[in-house]
Parts: sequence; C-alpha cells; structure tokens
Amino acid sequence: MNQEMKIPQHIAIIMDGNGRWAKQRGKDRSEGHFAGMMALRATVKAAAEMGVKYLTVYAFSTENWGRPQAEVDALMELVCTGVEMNTPELCQEGVRVEIIGDRRRFSEKVNAALDRITSKTAQGERMTLVLALNYSSRSELTFAVQQLAQKVADGELQPSDIDEKAISQSLYTASMPDPDLIIRTSGECRLSNFMMWQASYSEFYFTDVLWPDFGAEALEEAIKAYNGRDRRYGLVK
Ligand code: IPE
Ligand code: IPE
Ligand code: MG
Repeated sequence: MNQEMKIPQHIAIIMDGNGRWAKQRGKDRSEGHFAGMMALRATVKAAAEMGVKYLTVYAFSTENWGRPQAEVDALMELVCTGVEMNTPELCQEGVRVEIIGDRRRFSEKVNAALDRITSKTAQGERMTLVLALNYSSRSELTFAVQQLAQKVADGELQPSDIDEKAISQSLYTASMPDPDLIIRTSGECRLSNFMMWQASYSEFYFTDVLWPDFGAEALEEAIKAYNGRDRRYGLVK
C-alpha cells in the first residue's frame, strides 16, 4: 500500500450480501453467513496491518430477528463458532473485541461466548474490533434518552445540561471516535438503522462486492476512495 495513504482511524462496515452470495452458488443462506465470517477474519487482519484503530462491523440488527427462525438460529450458532475459531488469532494479533447492542435478548450460550471473546482479547492494543450485535441506531438512542431522563428524574442532571457530549457519552459508542469511513457492500445504499448519530460527518463508500468476497484488496480500494475525499465539516477552506 502507498506510504502516503491516510488511514481512517475508525472504519465501520455494513456487511451485506451473504444471502445473495449463497444464492448465486445454489447454497443455503447459512453458508453465505459462514463465508461472511471468513471474510471478516481476513478484513480484520488487513485492517490491523494497515493501522486502523477501530473497526466496527454491523453483524446483526434488531430487525434481523424477523428473519426465518432457521436463519436466526444459524446466525446465533455462527456467533459461537466464530468466537471459538477466531479468539486465539485475535489475541495473537493484538485485537481487542468489544460488543455494542442490546445483549439481553441473546441466549446464555451466546452471551457466554461473547464474554469469552471480550475477556480473552481485553489486552489487545493494536486495534479494537467492535461487533454490533442486536444493534440499531434507534434502539441505542432510545436507551440513551432513557438514561438521561433517569438522571434528570434523580436530580443528578439539569435538562439544560443535556448537550451533544452528554448524548454521545450515553451511546454504546461512548468510548470510541465517530467513524471516519462507513463502507456498505452488496450495492445497497442505505444505513439500515446503523450509527445515525455517529455518521454525521462520516464518509460513505458503497461497493457492489458481496460481503463474502470482501477482504484486503477491497478494503484498500475503499481507503483509496477515502483519500480522494475532502472533509469540510461545514467550513470553507
Ligand atoms: C448480511 O447479509 C448479514 C446479515 C444481515 C446478518 P444478508 O443476509 O443481509 O445478505 P442479503 O442481503 O440477503 O444478500
Ligand atoms: C443490515 O443489513 C444489517 C446488517 C448488515 C447486520 P440488512 O440486509 O439486514 O438490511 P436491509 O434489510 O437490506 O435494509
Ligand atoms: Mg442484506
């Protein structure tokens, strides 16, 4: 990769197209999701090597519970398999894993796997991999409003103290910078309830590549496109 390249500090990816990838091959959707997990593995490795500090991936939305039960079950099973298969390598690569989303709806087994991957990788300092699971931007903002309202009710906070910083600090992403670059695969050009607050000044990159075909090369293409962008933040240069 070109040495002059500016590397985004935080890249967020809407990993889409696993089902279509499987369909094209006459396979079951669950096989597409497995191939998607392998693509994630390759992408994490590439991002860490390029010097990305935060990589957030949208893996399961609050709306995805509405898919056929067999697919939801396969995705939950894949969370457990993914943890087993990838934890040692993530530790070795210095990748710390964090989870964002509402974990209360997951089974004990899935939550135990998530606890395992976060605790075993806690020392990682090279990159943080953020898994968005049972995540949606609207549910995140709803929880944030509830927390702030509770503080007001308890007399800990004045309504006028609720500023942008207080809202940001009440989101799942409180400890992270906003994403510099948001990538969506599979040709869809929408956010699907992802990081609507945090995306205020993110650069967007849409590619037709289906998620299971994504990897180091496609990531590099996205970063190249990002390098051609002029981020003005509403100002005049
Ligand atoms: C993304 O792939 C994975 C999840 C949303 C869990 P899809 O399963 O949405 O794949 P398509 O969009 O049907 O091709
Ligand atoms: C968005 O993809 C959610 C994830 C990638 C986890 P979807 O496939 O669920 O979104 P829509 O239905 O195309 O908007
Ligand atoms: Mg999809």
